[in-house]
Amino acid sequence: MNVYAILPAAGLGTRMAADKPKQFLTLQGEPILIHTLRAFAAVARMNGIIVAVQPHEIEHTQALAAEFGFASRVRVVAGGDNRQESVSNGLAALSAAADDIVLVHDAVRPLIDAATIERTIDAVIQHGAAIVGLPAVDTIKQVERTAHGALVSATIPREYVVLAQTPQGFRYGLLSKALADANAEGFIGTDEASVVERAGHPVAVVAGSQHNFKVTQPGDIELAEFYLSQRR
Ligand code: C5P
Repeated sequence: MNVYAILPAAGLGTRMAADKPKQFLTLQGEPILIHTLRAFAAVARMNGIIVAVQPHEIEHTQALAAEFGFASRVRVVAGGDNRQESVSNGLAALSAAADDIVLVHDAVRPLIDAATIERTIDAVIQHGAAIVGLPAVDTIKQVERTAHGALVSATIPREYVVLAQTPQGFRYGLLSKALADANAEGFIGTDEASVVERAGHPVAVVAGSQHNFKVTQPGDIELAEFYLSQRR
C-alpha cells in the first residue's frame, strides 16, 4: 500500500491582496509551499507528492522544489479553475491502486505537522476516509442572508460541529470514483470530504490544531511567523 499527497496550490489568493499568490509568499525567508512540502516529505510513509499550480507557475515550482531538495519526491502538474479541478488533475497524474491512500492538503496550511499527517493516514487505514477537524469553540449560528444583512435562523449545538481542515485522506479508489461522479454531475465541493460524503461513505475526524490554519488574509503571515518562531 502506497501513500501519496496532493497539494492544491493553484489558487490566486485574491483575499490576500499581495503581489503574488499566497503559496509563494515567504515565511522565515522560504515560500509557504516549501514549508508545507517539508512537513509531508518528513513522513517516512509518503511515497510521492503532487503539487498543482497555475500552468505558468509549473517551471518556477519545479525549480523551487529542486532548490530545496524535494525534486525526486515531487511532481508538479497544472491545476484548474477551482480547487476540485486542481485536485482532480493531481489525482489523474497518479497511477495508484484502489487501496493506496491519497491525502489532500491545502498548500497554504504551512504549519501542518508530521504527527497529524501520520494520524490522518492511520485513520484512513481504519475508516477509508478521514479529515482533520477542529472542535468549534464559538457558538455556531445558522443564518439567512437578507437584503438587510445576515439574520440568525438557528443555533447549532457546537458539540455537533467541527471546522474542516486538511489533510483530508481517502483510499484512492474511493476518492477517484467520488470525484469522477461529482465532476460528471456538476457538483463542486469546497473540500474533498463533501464529495465523498455525497457518495455515502462515512468520514472519520482526526483532531486538528489552531496552528494548522489556512493563510488567507493580510495579518495571517504575521501569525504564521509567530507560530513558527515558537517551534524553534
Ligand atoms: O481558495 P482557498 O484559499 O480556499 O484555497 C485552498 C487551497 O486550494 C489553496 O492551497 C489554493 O492554492 C488551492 N486552489 C487550487 N486551485 C484553485 C483554487 C484554489 O489549487 N483553482
